[in-house]
Amino acid sequence: MSFDRSIKIAPSILSADFANFGQECEAIEAQGCDWVHVDVMDGHFVPNITFGPQTCKAIRPHIKTVMDVHLMIAPVDPYIEAFAQAGADVITAHVEAGPHIHRTLQAIRGAGAKAGVALNPGTPAESVDYLLDMVDLICVMTVNPGFGGQKFIHSQVEKVRKLRSMIGDRPIHIEIDGGVDPTTAPLVAEAGADVLVAGSAVFRGGSVGNPAPYGENIRAIRAAAEGARKAA
Ligand code: DX5
Ligand code: ZN
Repeated sequence: MSFDRSIKIAPSILSADFANFGQECEAIEAQGCDWVHVDVMDGHFVPNITFGPQTCKAIRPHIKTVMDVHLMIAPVDPYIEAFAQAGADVITAHVEAGPHIHRTLQAIRGAGAKAGVALNPGTPAESVDYLLDMVDLICVMTVNPGFGGQKFIHSQVEKVRKLRSMIGDRPIHIEIDGGVDPTTAPLVAEAGADVLVAGSAVFRGGSVGNPAPYGENIRAIRAAAEGARKAA
């Protein structure tokens, strides 16, 4: 996984057909996505449950690009090794998930994965001030985590701008998660984000039997984001 700040579209399989993850991953990659975003929820840190490391391991062979695992679980540390073994390229933990995010990020890198830290909408950018030299990705939640299809929270755009300036030249991705579509993508791309997670806005209108809409949706988000970068 080499680093660059080009726009990357990461469909969230939270909006895919849960009975068909393997084929869904293959379909979105064939339709031009850059990363595959995998949302793990525990019904405790967030009010919804999805799946765990076994499912990640099962879908790994169907992903050729980057497997980006977003852990919405608490505690995190007892499960890091299992997600790394499942083949996660990036493992992201929430700063709010426990008292020891610094230790968690050390453990993620120690397990051989890239380390990501996620911030809920109510958490300030400054919460990652002392973590910048130990992360590969900062995920700015633009909805309250737990469900797909929620409305983008506009106050987070300023947080993205602030994080972009805090990061400076460090090779750290800024990822946006929640409510990303062709109308909101330009706002965060212009503010400095490079990885755009999108669930409902990618999967709407398509299926594994009819994957062309996935491609159209991915291209529309990418074009909107790249357009905002050029205009800036
Ligand atoms: C929210 C998840 C997101 C979600 C995004 O808790 O972390 O990845 O699936 O879904 P959309 O793009 O529909 O807001
Ligand atoms: Zn997510």
